[in-house]
Amino acid sequence: MLSMETEMLTVIDAAVDIVTARQRGRELALELGFNGADVTLIAAVISEVARNIVEHAQKGEILMSAVNSAREGGRSGIEIIARDEGPGIRDVAQAMQYGYSTRKGLGVGLPGAKWLMDEFNIASEVGRGTTITMKKWRR
Ligand SMILES: Nc1ncnc2c1ncn2[C@@H]1O[C@H](COP(=O)(O)OP(=O)(O)OP(=O)(O)O)[C@@H](O)[C@H]1O
Ligand SMILES: [Mg+2]
Repeated sequence: MLSMETEMLTVIDAAVDIVTARQRGRELALELGFNGADVTLIAAVISEVARNIVEHAQKGEILMSAVNSAREGGRSGIEIIARDEGPGIRDVAQAMQYGYSTRKGLGVGLPGAKWLMDEFNIASEVGRGTTITMKKWRR
């Protein structure tokens, strides 16, 4: 159990870590008061970005935390940062297209994550790595 912990880091370097990150995301989202549907989609998004780390960058980490926004009228939510120092993405706009994959995947991981979250930012540099920052606000 997380019990009031509002920030946590999960190291991703094997397939089993995807499950751990997903489970921790579920627990944090529940603790932050998200409804069941949102808890499920937050867990799915975490699973996708974690799987991308394993499949495309080998290792990295996922940071999850509670966030509040004065700009959003005092709303609370969850922030998920997935980062790695893997190969990076040459053409981010292309990688964000539905159905684009360099490894015979479906190519729905990144566009799906963007669609499901309220805020989505991806920064990537070839040879330096990739950082994806996402937020979901509580309804
Ligand atoms: N962390 C990453 N590091 C390097 N490249 C990445 C990373 N994440 C995604 N990519 C690149 O972006 C492409 C699109 O990612 P996306 O998750 O949408 O599809 P996929 O992983 O190929 O397939 P799917 O997720 O549907 O199984 C990948 O094929 C890969 O080339
Ligand atoms: Mg993927």
